Amino acid sequence: MKAYTKQQLALRNGQDKPEIWVAFKGTIYDVSASRLWKNGKHYEHWAGQDLTNELKDAPHTEKVFQKFESIGFLID
Ligand code: HEM
Repeated sequence: MKAYTKQQLALRNGQDKPEIWVAFKGTIYDVSASRLWKNGKHYEHWAGQDLTNELKDAPHTEKVFQKFESIGFLID
């Protein structure tokens, strides 16, 4: 798996580049195929960042990531 910096991840916010990526517990997932992440927005959350600490606000568990391919991991 490839390593990406926060800056590289930030470009995958659904606005600056076509890819829509979200980091969770150090792993980056490609959620581009999801209707629920259209244009990089998921309820009040934006893609292109680490949303580990925000999962507690969600009505679901981390199981939602299971169907998405992990495309890399996040480094500083
Ligand atoms: C206000 C907070 C949030 C709300 C209301 C919300 C709501 C939802 C709902 C209703 C679904 C579809 C049903 C389900 O799978 O349970 C979903 C799916 C999902 N959520 Fe959230 N969510 C929130 C926060 C988050 C956060 C912080 C993350 C990332 C850490 C996240 C990641 C996902 C993912 C990856 C999916 C699967 C999308 C798909 O299957 O296409 N959500 N969310």
